[in-house]
Amino acid sequence: MSPGKKDDIEAHSIENTPINQFRLTLDGENHNVPISAGDTLLKAALAAGIDAPHSCTKGRCGTCMSWLRSGDVSMDSNRALSPNNIERGYVLACQSRPSSNTPLWLDFDL
Ligand code: FES
Repeated sequence: MSPGKKDDIEAHSIENTPINQFRLTLDGENHNVPISAGDTLLKAALAAGIDAPHSCTKGRCGTCMSWLRSGDVSMDSNRALSPNNIERGYVLACQSRPSSNTPLWLDFDL
C-alpha cells in the first residue's frame, strides 16, 4: 500500500467518526443533546428530557418533521415527507441518524 493510500483511508475514517452531540432548537431555546452511535435524533432528544414533537415514531405521521440546518443524516424512512420538503432540508427526527461528523443542528421551530 502506498503512503498516499494509507492517508486516504485514515482521512476517511476520521470523516466518518460519529458525532456525540448535536444542537437542537425547540420553542426558541437551543439545547446541546448527547447522542449515542446508532440512536435517532428523536430518541436522543427524548433521552435528554426534551419534549420534541413526535407521535408514531415510525416515519409515517410527520409530527417530528424538523429542519436540518447543518450536518448530515441518513433516514430509515422518509415516506411522510414530500419531495419538496426533502429538497428544502426537512427531515424526520424519528428516522434520522447522524451520518458524518459534521456539526449537526436540528431545528423544530419551522
Ligand atoms: S413521529 Fe411520526 S414520522 Fe416521526
